[in-house]
Amino acid sequence: MNKLTVKPAEGKLGILVVGNGAVATTFMTGVLMARRGLAKPIGSMTQYDKVRVGRGADKRYLHYGDIVSLANLNDIVFGCWDVYPQNAYQSAVYAEVLKREDIEPVRDELEKIVPMPAAFDKNYAKRLDGDNVKPCKNRWQMVEMLRDDIRRFRKEQNCDRVVVLWAASTEIYVPVNKDVHYRLQDLEQAMQADDREHIAPSMCYAYAALIEGCPFVMGAPNTTVDIPAMWELAEKTKMPIAGKDFKTGQTLVKSGFAPIIGTRCLGLEGWFSTNILGNRDGLVLDVPENFRTKEVSKLSTLETILKADEQPDLYSDYYHKVRINYYPPRNDNKESWDNIDIRGWMNYPMQIKINFLCRDSILAAPVCLDLCLLIDLAARAGRFGTQRFLSFFLKSPMHDYTRGEEAVNHLYQQHTMLKNAIREMGGFEPDEEID
Ligand SMILES: NC(=O)c1ccc[n+]([C@@H]2O[C@H](COP(=O)([O-])OP(=O)(O)OC[C@H]3O[C@@H](n4cnc5c(N)ncnc54)[C@H](O)[C@@H]3O)[C@@H](O)[C@H]2O)c1
Repeated sequence: MNKLTVKPAEGKLGILVVGNGAVATTFMTGVLMARRGLAKPIGSMTQYDKVRVGRGADKRYLHYGDIVSLANLNDIVFGCWDVYPQNAYQSAVYAEVLKREDIEPVRDELEKIVPMPAAFDKNYAKRLDGDNVKPCKNRWQMVEMLRDDIRRFRKEQNCDRVVVLWAASTEIYVPVNKDVHYRLQDLEQAMQADDREHIAPSMCYAYAALIEGCPFVMGAPNTTVDIPAMWELAEKTKMPIAGKDFKTGQTLVKSGFAPIIGTRCLGLEGWFSTNILGNRDGLVLDVPENFRTKEVSKLSTLETILKADEQPDLYSDYYHKVRINYYPPRNDNKESWDNIDIRGWMNYPMQIKINFLCRDSILAAPVCLDLCLLIDLAARAGRFGTQRFLSFFLKSPMHDYTRGEEAVNHLYQQHTMLKNAIREMGGFEPDEEID
């Protein structure tokens, strides 16, 4: 690909966030504070990471923005949808992630971000009871109302481009159904027939976004765009999509730590991961049907890094368990424990314990920024469909499971994929093989 084929990031980039909760408001507040020079966007690859371009004596290490044209933080305009009517300032205060002193300087800007009524179905998140909800008669109407919202936002905010990011609650688990989710035609028919069992509200957001020419990112583990019908729509509309589930705390550690075990050919007997979490996300995930969606996402990480078929002696029968416990006193300050039972020389057992005292939304906010800026870049570069180079940011990266493709979960392989995509879009040679 030639650098000249990437359209420059001119004009305003609208970021429409589904959900105006802890993650969304921490993301928005951080961007608004950073562009006033009052905070640093730490943890963001697009703002800090450097990629080597060229080789030997010609090699240089450049920030992403010096290799490709990225939207400037000053050009971002936020909008959102939520089930609760509070504006982004009120919601940021409610979330208690950030100190008041880190919110007040941008209070005026946050107060202007008022959520549009949500496309919502209580069956998909029973613990939520807000009334800022669209009066939709059926799923197709949901799509049409969301399309109107996107068009109005684009016009009123004078946006050159709009990206839609899902940072709303995890929906109940929707298993992939071949009769509904495999072909676009069937998906559309199910929306028109108001099939509420197979069409989650998140699918209506994604469908509306793609039809309106907006890239879509799924930050929760919801099935949404991880179905062939949506891949077809992304291809048809020439829009990039990415998902699922922000890779932030425990899974980030897992996908970075598991390679240590694999690289040294140590055996694995079991990996037990547990968490305590007390925010609204934790409350929603306390319902078994919603936790199931998260569990499937979190469990998928290890099996593609420590592979039984490649190393039967080491990885054929390990026990992998993930729990999330709702514990209100901790709010957003999640604590995770990992107990890893490994085997060494002559099968002698050893244990590793990891205790991560993290802040969920503080880890998720830079991931939101990077995903939005990079999927906007992908769209300007003419890339469409699933963006595998964004797997680095995701717990359960999308891949074509209908053709037996495996997801890449290994953090360092994902980093190579990310760097290569930046090189390629910048007109440089991608030069690191993924083994
Ligand atoms: N924080 C992390 O580290 C992390 C990591 C991976 C994934 N996630 C996911 O990100 C999402 C957001 O997390 P959070 O901590 O901000 O949760 P939160 O509960 O604070 O915010 C989610 C918001 O989404 C709203 N919402 C729910 N359904 C909606 C709909 N259909 N339309 C519009 N709004 C809707 C809720 O009212 C709520 O305000 C969750 O799905 C979570 O699982 C978070």
